[in-house]
This record gives sequence, structure tokens and C-alpha cells, in this order.
Amino acid sequence: MTTRKELIKKYLEFFKSKDHKVISNASLIPENDPTVLFTTAGMHPLVPYLIGQKHPQGKRLVNVQRCIRTGDIEEVGDETHHTFFEMLGNWSLGDYWKEDSIKYSFDFLTKKLKIPKEKINVTCFKGEKNILKDNESSKIWKDLGINKIKFLGKKDNWWGPAGTTGPCGPDTEIFVNNVEIWNNVFMEYNKTSKGKFEPLKQKNVDTGMGVERTVAVLNGYEDNYLTNSFKLIIKEIEKLSNKNYKGNEREMRIIADHIKASVFIIADGIIPGNSEQSYVLRRLIRRAVRYGKIIGIKNFTTQIAEPVFKIFDDYPELKKHKKTILKELKKEEDKFLVTLEKGLNKFKKFTSNKKQLSGKESFLLYQSFGFPIEMIEEECKKQKIKFSVNDFEKANKEHQKLSRTATAGRFKSGLADNSELTTKLHTAAHLLLEGLKQTLGKNITQKGSNINAERLRFDFSFPRKLEEKEVKKIEYLVNSEIKKEHKITVQEMSPQEAKKSGAAGSFDKKYGNKVSVYSIGNFSKEICAGPHVKNTKELGTFKIKKQESVGAGTRRIKATLE
Ligand code: ALA
Repeated sequence: MTTRKELIKKYLEFFKSKDHKVISNASLIPENDPTVLFTTAGMHPLVPYLIGQKHPQGKRLVNVQRCIRTGDIEEVGDETHHTFFEMLGNWSLGDYWKEDSIKYSFDFLTKKLKIPKEKINVTCFKGEKNILKDNESSKIWKDLGINKIKFLGKKDNWWGPAGTTGPCGPDTEIFVNNVEIWNNVFMEYNKTSKGKFEPLKQKNVDTGMGVERTVAVLNGYEDNYLTNSFKLIIKEIEKLSNKNYKGNEREMRIIADHIKASVFIIADGIIPGNSEQSYVLRRLIRRAVRYGKIIGIKNFTTQIAEPVFKIFDDYPELKKHKKTILKELKKEEDKFLVTLEKGLNKFKKFTSNKKQLSGKESFLLYQSFGFPIEMIEEECKKQKIKFSVNDFEKANKEHQKLSRTATAGRFKSGLADNSELTTKLHTAAHLLLEGLKQTLGKNITQKGSNINAERLRFDFSFPRKLEEKEVKKIEYLVNSEIKKEHKITVQEMSPQEAKKSGAAGSFDKKYGNKVSVYSIGNFSKEICAGPHVKNTKELGTFKIKKQESVGAGTRRIKATLE
């Protein structure tokens, strides 16, 4: 059995013997690069040096780099896809070129890893537009005795830029037993913001070898999850669930991959939240929890994380942040379990007097409660409820169409999505603002809001903590209006007219020459982009869950509808 540590050691040793300097395994969170969320390849931290800046450690570099790729998160579950993986890479910054690069790769594979050359096949760039066919690389391969060579176009044999602009070029990809394990990119172009490919000042080599895949190939596995980058994690999941990996591969792979990725992301300083990297992290943890539910495990994330620390004990950052990592995993899992429970109640309501779940209903469970489609199917099977994935897909498409047209308005209103629940909370936010004014004073203004399917967050101008009786009064006012079953009406008018009519609105400068004014009975009138429910009777019971200060003179309320 070749282990990941052995492969990494051999690789670094080999390139050190070819005068490469080992550079550090950088953070998953790119420094000074707002165009990407995560480090997706070893070349990422090297972009300035690929376009000409001098690297302090010279022109030949090597390392192992932790990477996250979230582009195909939905693909995770098969034998080869991961969100977190380790990439071995060696670089020439304007030093050696195709011949040395290919020879180094060939020697490492055949001499150090002892792979018979009959098992190797390669692909080269076939040329496109103004860029020539890469006959140079194919000749080098032939001279080394590799005859299985295919020429492919830009889709397959071109790499980069990592963002929208930057270094890129044709590549030659190396396959062992038809699994791609190594990619040698000849970076001689710079893609400009206008989409043009200009020659770079220097010709660079950028290579990437996937550790998980290569270890799998070396040990004769077709499934990366059987290698020692995963084995202990899978074992722990088997133990906890009392189920075999065989027959539950997809669920166990997703859990193993996502928990591993989450451990690394938290180690690099991110905690679950609603934007950017934090949101990706939240999705990963929640997806793992959902699949845990399918195989019958609960409250498991910290236990599944334990083997990650064992497998990757060569990462000091994991050890150092272990406490935080476990704490954040647990916190997010707990939070999400509450949402899931609510979702199951919703499911029961939908199916209490009929033996069928509609596309719209299943989509709501997916969108607002985070149920994966497998879980919906599972639950329907268990309860003998009729359900069609096609209807779900239809509802999904319909939603995408709607949300594209609503995007502009949504951002204006501070809504995270357009589901039924967020719409309800949005209407409740209008009632809340008026409730605050009537309780605390007319000059209260809204400072911002953020709504997702779980809660309404509302910031407003006020200098102190609200007293218990004030909180109760606000709740009472809002709930009384809800019970009056007001229709919500909307009128178009100019901002001046809106102001004159007494409508609330705190973002005057941003309004165009026509605004929508939403009224709820005689209680609330507000400039807004929608969307809102038709009638307040849809809202249920309004409850203030939390209040806090967010800077001088601004208070924050978190509230829900139950
Ligand atoms: N940067 C290249 C890749 O990620 C090596 O495949």
C-alpha cells in the first residue's frame, strides 16, 4: 500500500533532487485575490511570479497544496470527485520548458513510482485558432517510448486562467490505466480582460498531480474513497451508522468529503455564515448532515471529524484549531437539525390528508428546508406517498425563471431567496417596522434587513436595549394586525408622492422615478420592491427571538413566524 504521505515525500524529494525549492502549502483562502473564493490549484499563490515578478526562492519550485473546488459539489458521491483534495505541483518560472518537464514526469512515474510505461497514455493540444498544434510535446513523449497519444482541443488540453484573466496555456495530460493523474501546463499566454491571448514575458511550466487519484491508481483502486486519505473516515461512518460502505457508498462519500473539507476551511479561519466562503462552508456541513439523516445518523459531525485530524496530522493548522473546528461543526449541525425538524413537520402537513406530494411542495422542502431530493424520495417511500421527480424538476425550473426576473428586486429588499417563507418574513418586516415606531417612537428608521427561510434579521435606529414589556408590545401589535386578515395592496407612484403619502422608506437616493408602495391595512405603508404575501392571515404567529446591539445607535432584532 502506498500512502498519501509516501507519495508526497517521494514527489518532493524527486523535485528537490532536480534543484526545486519547496514552497509552503498556502491557506485555502487566497490572499489579495477577490476573484476566487478558494485556492483551487497550486499555481494560485504563484500568479504574480508566473507573469514576471521574481520569486524569492528562485525559478524552480515544488509543493503539495491543499485545494477546494466547489464547482461540481453536486458530483461528489461518485468514486473520483472531491471538494477538498491535495495537489502536488512543480513549477518552472521562465526556466526549463517542455522537454525537461515531460522528462521529469516520465522519470518520476516510471522510476520512482515504478509504473510500467505500457500503462501510460497521454493527450496533447491539437491546436485552435491562432495557437499551433503541440507537436513538440508529442515528439518528446514518442522519444520516451510513449505511443498512446491523443490530440484534443481547448476543452480538454488547455488550462487556465484560474480566474477570468491571467496566465494560461496548452497542456499535456498524463493517464495511468486511463485515469488522469497529472497535468503539465505550458503557460506561455496571458488572457486579457478583453479575451485576447497575449504571449507572456516568460515561458512557465505549471503542473498538478492529484494525490487522492494517484494513490488510488498506485494501489489498484478504482474508488478514491478506499485509499488512506479517506479510509478512517469511512470506517467511522460505518461504525456510527452500523451500515456497510457497500450499498451506501454515495451517502458515505458525501459525508466523508464534506466533513473533511469543512475541517480544513474552518482551520483556515472561516466560520459558517451566509456569504462567500462562509456560505460554502455552511452548505458543505448541512449537505453532510442531510446525507447523515438518510443513513440514519445524527449529531455526528464532530465524531466524523476526528479521523480527519489523524489522517492529516502533517497539517499543524488542524491541530492548532481543533477546538474551534469541533465547536463550529457542532454549532452548525445543531442549528440545521432544528430547520430539518421544521421541514419534516411541513412534510407531514402537506401529506396529512392526501397521499401525494406535489412538485411545488417538494420544491419548498428542498429550497427552504434544505432537503435533498433523495431525502424527499426516501420520506415519501417510507410514508407511501406518491411523488414524481419530474414535477419537482418542473417546479425548480419555474423557480429559476422567477428568481432571474426577481433578482434585482430581491437584492434591494435584503432577501436571500424567493421562497414562500422568506416572502412571509418580508411582509412581517413591514409590520415590525410600524410596531417599533408605535412602541418606541415615530422617528425610528430601518437600517437594513436580512431574511432567509429561518428568520428575519432587522436593524433599526435606537440607542438602548428594549425592555421586556416593549418587546411584548411590539409582538402584540404585529400579531393583532396579522389576525385582522389584511389584504396587502400595492400602488405605483413617484418617490415624492410616496413621501407625501407618509410611506416609510430609508433609501431615498437609490429610488428611480417610480416606486411601489405596499400597504397593510391602515397600519403600515412602505416603499419596497416586494415580494409580499397576499393576506396577513398567511403569516402565523410573529415572535421576537433575540435582540442585540450592532454599533452605536443601532439595534438588531431577530424574529420568526411560527
Ligand atoms: N494548474 C493545473 C491544474 O490545476 C496544473 O490542473
